[in-house]
Amino acid sequence: MNRPTPAPLPGGELKMPPATKLPSSEGLGVGSWAQSSLGKGSELSMNQYRCWAEVDLSALHRNLAWIRKSVGAGVKILSVVKADAYGHGLQQIAAALMHGGTDVFGVANLSEAGSIRRVGAGWPILMLGACLPHEIETAVRDDVRPTISSFGEARLFSVAAQRLGKTVRAHMKVDTGMGRLGIAGPDAEHLLAKVSRLKGLHVEGLYTHFASVEDNAAFSHRQQEQFRLLLKDLSQRGIHVPLVHASNSGGVLLERGSVFNMVRPGLLVYGIIPPGLRTQRIRPNPDLHPVLSWHCRVALVREIPKGTPISYGGTFVAPRRMRVAILTAGYGDGFMRSSNGRSVVLICGRRCRIVGRITMDQMIADVSQTPGVAPGDNATLIGRQGNAEITVCETAGAFGTIPWEVLTGITYRVPRVYLGAHAS
Ligand SMILES: Cc1ncc(COP(=O)(O)O)c(C=O)c1O
Repeated sequence: MNRPTPAPLPGGELKMPPATKLPSSEGLGVGSWAQSSLGKGSELSMNQYRCWAEVDLSALHRNLAWIRKSVGAGVKILSVVKADAYGHGLQQIAAALMHGGTDVFGVANLSEAGSIRRVGAGWPILMLGACLPHEIETAVRDDVRPTISSFGEARLFSVAAQRLGKTVRAHMKVDTGMGRLGIAGPDAEHLLAKVSRLKGLHVEGLYTHFASVEDNAAFSHRQQEQFRLLLKDLSQRGIHVPLVHASNSGGVLLERGSVFNMVRPGLLVYGIIPPGLRTQRIRPNPDLHPVLSWHCRVALVREIPKGTPISYGGTFVAPRRMRVAILTAGYGDGFMRSSNGRSVVLICGRRCRIVGRITMDQMIADVSQTPGVAPGDNATLIGRQGNAEITVCETAGAFGTIPWEVLTGITYRVPRVYLGAHAS
């Protein structure tokens, strides 16, 4: 197999694994939760799924390549793979991203870090959330880079590192306006100077996080200014931190000046431009492709007379004679009940409205204007059929939420089926 060579190290600070450790994605063809019943080598074809998500690993590679081109070769890419890689399946996505040349992984917890380690050893992993006190020892032992927001946390890491004979490579976070994690502005310089003197702890990274980069340019610029000022002050004190990062997907797209020498895209890796007032103006990018599509099936087609109430509560009553299709997905799969009256699906290449309440395992589409619908037909919840498309952002609008929540809300009973490069 043709294997990519991992990017060179920035001044030897990030220890990259040797190329021979690139994982094989064999046996990762179907999400692990589906594998017990639909394992590799089974004769089941796509036709036998009732509700499933297709994950296109070639699209993932192309997106990563576009991000690489866009930020420049000297900039490290930390791919955010929290929450089961935004619902795409952590281990399969991690394997594909390792092959695609990601430099670092960003996770929410140690269990996600462990899953990545089982796919391929040696990749740098940054935990983006704060470590709980009882997790510190494991993080140090497993070489997971912690995010540190206070001197107290730094001291606990330093003590654990010395006890275990290890060096912790920490990323210090600065709060420039997100109000979640990070040292608050005025204390940052003094505190970083103190932390950098702790034994067993090497400050490998310094970062901040945009609070509303997709919507608010002025606020984002103020965040950047504050961060730059701190970098300048630190440099005047002779403190140099090897990796500096601020940009999530919105930052990569909208704030070129915030790229520094590492970026942390999440949504963009999965081919989605984050919605917002500022991103509305970005033209569709032919180099970015949504990685995930979501499908279910038509189970039954029924003709119903005018006046027939549909689904629980009878909130929808047929205003005329209608043809409806009963579909094999519901809120138990992650299709939110709160989207009642706003959602559409694609059947036979046409947009069909969901009518009546969405139930746990089934929902009902109006196919009166769609001829030829038959049991077994594919109904696309997110994705394309011919020229018609439902984007994850459109679905998020119907659900009254954001694309991040739609993707991470697709439940475990929906098998993820892997297509494209490195899918087995
Ligand atoms: C600290 C941090 N950086 C980067 C990201 C990636 O964000 P996005 O998916 O908008 O690119 C996240 C996601 O929540 C995050 O918490």
